[in-house]
Amino acid sequence: MNLTILGAGNIGGALGQKWAAAGHTITFGVRDPNSPKTQAALAKVNAPTLPIPEAIRTGEVILFSIPWAAVPETVAANTPALSGKILIDATNNFAGPIINNLAALQTIPHAAIFRAFNSLGWEHFDAPNRGGVQTDHFYTGPDGDTRQTMHQLIAEVGVRPIWVGDHDRIQIVDNLGALWVTLAFQRGWARGITLKLVEK
Ligand SMILES: NC(=O)c1ccc[n+]([C@@H]2O[C@H](COP(=O)([O-])OP(=O)(O)OC[C@H]3O[C@@H](n4cnc5c(N)ncnc54)[C@H](OP(=O)(O)O)[C@@H]3O)[C@@H](O)[C@H]2O)c1
Repeated sequence: MNLTILGAGNIGGALGQKWAAAGHTITFGVRDPNSPKTQAALAKVNAPTLPIPEAIRTGEVILFSIPWAAVPETVAANTPALSGKILIDATNNFAGPIINNLAALQTIPHAAIFRAFNSLGWEHFDAPNRGGVQTDHFYTGPDGDTRQTMHQLIAEVGVRPIWVGDHDRIQIVDNLGALWVTLAFQRGWARGITLKLVEK
């Protein structure tokens, strides 16, 4: 598939590397192709960079891995090109009452919106099998064909996809991210922590 990754930072670089290895065509949408972050991502992923509007036009799936606050203006400036596509919101605003960007993305007509790659540190997508334990990854979004695509894209990163439901369950996934951040940054745990769903 043609995958557009907006932002070539920690998350964009880690996911781009995995999806390129899985055979997808990656394009990064960036504001500055020469920024240190973009250059670090390009050292890991051999992919073109384009300005964000052009990058959005090339993609069937668009990953938002830019700062949370930059999403509404990006959506407003590119609504026609985003319409009808699979949109993945990885952005977080842990400082505010609303952590995700669902409200901005839901202004786009006919888009299939998924909340994923938000609830764990980027290292877990970079190295999903630590100590022989596969990382679980919880996500929300609509059921149906696009969810099968989303499931495959998560699996191709190497983590185990676990669907929590449609966006009436988004807060659960957001709170998993808040839990991870609280434990990692305020309770003395390392960034290597992850939640595992265990069936007994
Ligand atoms: N870091 C994590 O472990 C993690 C985990 C889950 C979710 N997230 C979320 O994922 C998103 C990306 O995080 P990250 O750690 O990958 O960030 P990052 O390493 O700082 O990279 C951010 C990327 O967004 C670009 N960017 C910054 N401001 C922008 C703007 N106003 N318009 C367009 N592009 C802009 C940066 O471009 P320049 O190079 O030009 O600055 C860079 O390519 C954030 O919303 C974050 O909350 C992060």
